[in-house]
Amino acid sequence: MHPSRLLALLLSLLLLAACAKQPAPATGPAAAPAPAKIKLGFLVKQPEEPWFQYEWKGGETIAAKYGFDLIKIGVSDGEKTLAAIDSLAANGASGFVICTPDVRLGPALAAKARAAGLKVVTVDDRFVGADGKFLLDVPYLGMSARRIGELSGRTLAAEMQRRGWAAADTAACIVTFEELDTARERTDGVVAALTAAGFAPDRIFKAPQKTTDIPGSFDAANALLARQTGVKHWLVAGMNDTAVLGAVRATEGNGFKAADVAGIGINGTDCLDELRKPAPTGFYGSILISAPQEGARTTEMLYFWVKDGKVPPPDTRTEGQLITRENFEQVLKAEGIL
Ligand code: GLA
Repeated sequence: MHPSRLLALLLSLLLLAACAKQPAPATGPAAAPAPAKIKLGFLVKQPEEPWFQYEWKGGETIAAKYGFDLIKIGVSDGEKTLAAIDSLAANGASGFVICTPDVRLGPALAAKARAAGLKVVTVDDRFVGADGKFLLDVPYLGMSARRIGELSGRTLAAEMQRRGWAAADTAACIVTFEELDTARERTDGVVAALTAAGFAPDRIFKAPQKTTDIPGSFDAANALLARQTGVKHWLVAGMNDTAVLGAVRATEGNGFKAADVAGIGINGTDCLDELRKPAPTGFYGSILISAPQEGARTTEMLYFWVKDGKVPPPDTRTEGQLITRENFEQVLKAEGIL
């Protein structure tokens, strides 16, 4: 082929390709670009705990209601939390709800979020500053820890009476995690209510857990049971369901029958399999707080803060109610959890 004809052919091919890429001619007035969809993060310290999965569910209900994207990230340590904030910023998010793996990271997390232009709402575990005081300028929503602990303690005292357990044969195992304020306030509430009900303070034993999971509370309670022999009946409490579940497993391992153990958890979300077991165990019940509502309310606060500049209240508290094998299906259905 003559070079000039080859050139002409190539040119016409290029032209064809360019025409094919042309968008269809607009018919009406140009449409305004759609506003970018709002993106918000929801970061939780223990994504394996049903409590946090229910919080996420609540957050998703709000995202579906208002039509924004919710990015859920499990952040089991500080490094993962910092990386999650970077990734939210890179993805164009405007803020996040967080239950931090370590409350003392609060100032660093708040500063990093501020630098990236992200708004922060804390849920469950409140940020603590270098001086040990709460960071009051970061909005928080969580349980009325002291009152919920007191309800757990009052219920244990009533249960002891109902079962006719003699004071001399009964002791209380309180699984503690005192480095976390909400946990300490809950177990302090349990101890205060037990004492107020006439339970002897020297029959109340703390079992500090090193990790806030079932192995952590199992080990803590096992160590206590090995030390405190001669007890016939145990009352068991802790900062959440897993704290009490581990301790109840430890009483079983130490030969206590279900009828000689009364454990009351907190959360009401992480004990459903336990309460569904065909035969009762030493896990008597739990103080239920609505995790879906906590997730929904914090996500909604953050959304309106981002969208309308409405700053959330600094401190919002939620209440709890007792669930047992007898009523949990009914109460959790009414709460929209089941
Ligand atoms: C802490 C606990 C969770 C749950 C929340 C509720 O984060 O680790 O299990 O009890 O508090 O606020």
